[in-house]
Amino acid sequence: MSAPLDEPSSTQEFEALIAYLKNNRGFDFSGYKRSSLRRRMSKRMQALRVERYGDYLDYLEVHPEEFVQLFNTILINVTGFFRDTTSWEFLAAEVIPRLIAGKQPPEPIRVWSAGCASGEETYSLAIMLAEALGFEGFRQRVKIYATDVDEAALGQGRHASYSARDLQPVSPELRRKYFEQVGDRFVFRPDLRRAVIFGRHDLVQDAPISRLDLLVCRNTLMYFNAETQARILARFHFALNDTGMVFLGKAEMLLTRVNFFNPVHLKHCIFVKVSRATLRDRLLIVAQAGNLELNNRFTSHVRLRDAAFDATPVAQVVLDPHSNVWLINQAARTSFGILPQDMGRPFYELDLSSRPVELHSHIKQVYADLQPQRLTNIERPLPESKTQFLDVQMIPLLDTDSTLLGISITFHDVTHHRLLQVELEKSRQELETAYEELQSTNEELETTNEELQSTVEELETTNEELQSTNEELETMNEELQSGNEELQTINDELRERTDEVNRSKAFLESILASLHAAAVAVDRDFHILMWNAEADELWGLREDEVLGQSFMNLDIGLPVEQLRTPVRAVLTGRATFQEVVLETTNRRGRVFQCRVTCTPLVGAEGDTQGVILLMEERSGQA
Ligand SMILES: C[S@@+](CC[C@H](N)C(=O)[O-])C[C@H]1O[C@@H](n2cnc3c(N)ncnc32)[C@H](O)[C@@H]1O
Repeated sequence: MSAPLDEPSSTQEFEALIAYLKNNRGFDFSGYKRSSLRRRMSKRMQALRVERYGDYLDYLEVHPEEFVQLFNTILINVTGFFRDTTSWEFLAAEVIPRLIAGKQPPEPIRVWSAGCASGEETYSLAIMLAEALGFEGFRQRVKIYATDVDEAALGQGRHASYSARDLQPVSPELRRKYFEQVGDRFVFRPDLRRAVIFGRHDLVQDAPISRLDLLVCRNTLMYFNAETQARILARFHFALNDTGMVFLGKAEMLLTRVNFFNPVHLKHCIFVKVSRATLRDRLLIVAQAGNLELNNRFTSHVRLRDAAFDATPVAQVVLDPHSNVWLINQAARTSFGILPQDMGRPFYELDLSSRPVELHSHIKQVYADLQPQRLTNIERPLPESKTQFLDVQMIPLLDTDSTLLGISITFHDVTHHRLLQVELEKSRQELETAYEELQSTNEELETTNEELQSTVEELETTNEELQSTNEELETMNEELQSGNEELQTINDELRERTDEVNRSKAFLESILASLHAAAVAVDRDFHILMWNAEADELWGLREDEVLGQSFMNLDIGLPVEQLRTPVRAVLTGRATFQEVVLETTNRRGRVFQCRVTCTPLVGAEGDTQGVILLMEERSGQA
């Protein structure tokens, strides 16, 4: 059972996940900031509806293809041309001219764009260098190495093809000069593109590219923890030429705490390498700054000298060339309890020679090489558990002909200075911690910002997709509406026709009902098509009983078989009128002579579609 994300054991599961990715997938995320890593992983886990890191590890084991998704989610590729425009303007105005001035043509200019994502930053650099050197100078002298761990992003960089939206930060003039339009895309000029070399490089694990004049690594270091950042920066120092410069992202100020680089412009995060020679010089200056100039000139005014010597607030003892005490000033007497009778005694016999610090060996050294010796921050316990801090200086006193006159030993009380130093150190550390916190918050803000930007981009894509689906729906709607209108028109026409037909039918029915004869219409196969009310009355069958039946099969009082021949004659067109009189029995059983006339049922085309039979009692009967 694995732990939910907010339980302490989830940290172990999380670390196990990082170790799994390192051991089984070969990618080491252990130097990345945990906060950002957790957020990005949670994003994937939410998409898969997995709640615990342990379960996600199981999922990765079963679905190796998930690693690509996770990798793409963790490595945020947010980038753009001339991101933080003012810093790029500063780069163009101050840094690139300085870089070019430091190089004699045709010396090559080597640049590294580390964490280049899909190449926008790299081509921004190419544009600025080409603007400063001209196309020919650029082609001959510039090499830009563009690296990243994300192969997919590098692929986009290699294609050098961008949308109009990507190119919005590039001025129309530079766009025309450096990009060729291919369809709706813009491709970076191929002749300048050749100066850019894209390659996979892991800042944490791989050796750096060397002999660089400019190293651009923006918005990438901030994803790493402080230790990893420091390690990468040490490699950057190694990678740069002595006058090489670094251009970082606007949240990446860590360099100010590292001795490797000096700021060129803090706000724009541009730094210059501190070369090794300069480091050495600095140390010398620091060492030299500590020297104390002693004025040991003797004057003929011995008393004045003695009084002055006595009045010096710094405790001082002077030895002759044989290590005997020759002079002791007032401060030394009061501070160390030395008495006037100690004058002339060998210094080694005094307590002061071994306490608070052992001075024998140092004094011996001064006698031997005639060089001053200095001991700093010597702790001297005082009554009431107090502590005094002393700087002890032993200076050889030389005559004008450089013969040794003696040694001056001074004891400077630096307790106050020391306390201030401790306080200063404490404040410095507090400041450093505060600075680190601020820095880390700043970086955190920046990473969150980038994550937000990436989410916004995702949302924008989804929005665009939704918009296109919406447009699709809208067009379908319009099509449906127009179909609907057509149907409506057809419907109206149909209704009119039906009304017409109904009217015709009613008209026909009233004609048939008004006839005083039984009227029957049959088709060419003798099937009954029409049967009026008089026929019903005469033969005792309703219309619905006979419609569709063969007239020849009817069992009525009429000898129908005898009608076959006259009906056929009309159907075949041999006659247009036939009349027969048949002896018939009506439905009531009365026998009568029925006169039957047959006329053609003529269709719209003038063809004979059947026969109309009119049947009535022959007149004069009844
Ligand atoms: C936010 S983008 C910065 C892109 C560009 N430098 C800029 O500022 O516009 C961070 C880039 O760092 C890359 N990256 C992350 N880890 C890396 C590593 N270990 N080595 C090299 N690149 C890395 C990512 O793939 C991503 O493309």
